[in-house]
Amino acid sequence: MLNRSFLRFLNLSRRRLSLIILALVVAAGALLFGVYVRAQQPVTISFLLRAVEADQMQGLADQFMAENPDIRIEMVRGPNAADAVENLYTTSFLLGDSPYDILFSDVVWIPKFAAAGWLMDLSDRVSEADLADFLEADVAAGVYQDGFYRMPFRSDMGMLYYRTDLLNQVGLQPPATFADLIAASETIQDQTDVNWGFVWQGLQYEGLVTNFVELVAGYGGFWVDADTLEVGLDQPAAIQATDFMKGVIAQGISPPGVTNYIEEDALRQFENGNAVFMRNWPYAWAEANGDGSPVAGNIALKPMVHTANEQPAACLGGWGFGISATTPHLEEAWRVVQFFTSPGPMKDFITEFAYVPSRRALFTDPEVLAVFPHYEQLLEVAETAVPRPPVGQYAQLSDILQRYLSAAITDQMTPEAAMRAAAGESRRVLGVDG
Ligand code: GLC
Repeated sequence: MLNRSFLRFLNLSRRRLSLIILALVVAAGALLFGVYVRAQQPVTISFLLRAVEADQMQGLADQFMAENPDIRIEMVRGPNAADAVENLYTTSFLLGDSPYDILFSDVVWIPKFAAAGWLMDLSDRVSEADLADFLEADVAAGVYQDGFYRMPFRSDMGMLYYRTDLLNQVGLQPPATFADLIAASETIQDQTDVNWGFVWQGLQYEGLVTNFVELVAGYGGFWVDADTLEVGLDQPAAIQATDFMKGVIAQGISPPGVTNYIEEDALRQFENGNAVFMRNWPYAWAEANGDGSPVAGNIALKPMVHTANEQPAACLGGWGFGISATTPHLEEAWRVVQFFTSPGPMKDFITEFAYVPSRRALFTDPEVLAVFPHYEQLLEVAETAVPRPPVGQYAQLSDILQRYLSAAITDQMTPEAAMRAAAGESRRVLGVDG
């Protein structure tokens, strides 16, 4: 008991003492309440992705958050060029302690990110049987040495879109060969008021490389053989492929501005009725054939053109989820990955936006086929799609190819000189003799 003389000694009245005690009780209460509120607050799982795709994935994220109130998904909107997003991820991982719990990864990033130790090995979390439902190439893209680092979410393959009405108007079949595509473009540009024959992705970025992969295979060649590390860029097929890109611009079949196009730019031209043919990924279908598109109902797509004695080739693309090695929320991040890659959400996403599923069964799912009858044909294309070389130095190889292709198509170098230089630099990066 505090007696009066002690209180006097402290110079406190009883009243004052009660006020101090009250204040202490209130402060302790507030502290406990804060701890409680923090414990109730959801854990945030964050990842970076192309802005166009963030808009599209928001619906699934909202569904997940409604079903899982303990987790908040934060999708950070990045640039729309795939490799620009890769650079941002790379910088954040290099700084250590990446702010991203998840790596929303292009099909070509895993060897680099896994080799750097930036990703969690997911092998113990998925069985062979789980993975058997996915396209083989999508699964292979997640493997690095003995580990598995990327759950496939959606696949991709480059296709040739064409205007059925214009081909009918001039009485031509869809083109099979490079020469057919050029001839049909010229005829239609001559006989109709459509300005351009062929739009594609010519900006110096990853998309340019994917266009090239299809063309070089269509001429019977290759970029880098991942098994032998042989570089094919100075062989005739690669030079012909570069020549084709340069030629369609020089002949007025492609607009001069195509050297600045990414996917969305080509799609705008095609959708607005300004081009007969477009190279793009299957997602372009949803918009080009959607309500309000001037060309809706008048488009179709097929595998890319090639030379008479070769097969068409589609470049393998696609996106999936890895988990950052430094995330403090591994279990929550894994729940997010499981949700996005499970059959239901994947099906909703691909049917809404015409993306290509990574799960095989969805290609022949009656509800999917009711919306996209061409998916049955896409499965065949998906199983034979040409991957970009899955090597740890991929980003450097792509950068070299982008620079020299761009130099060739913007008339700064001849296709031959550009490809020779690109081949030499690629061999140096790979450490193989020229
Ligand atoms: C698509 C593909 C991706 C590719 C990119 C290039 O997003 O899915 O694999 O790297 O296009 O622009």
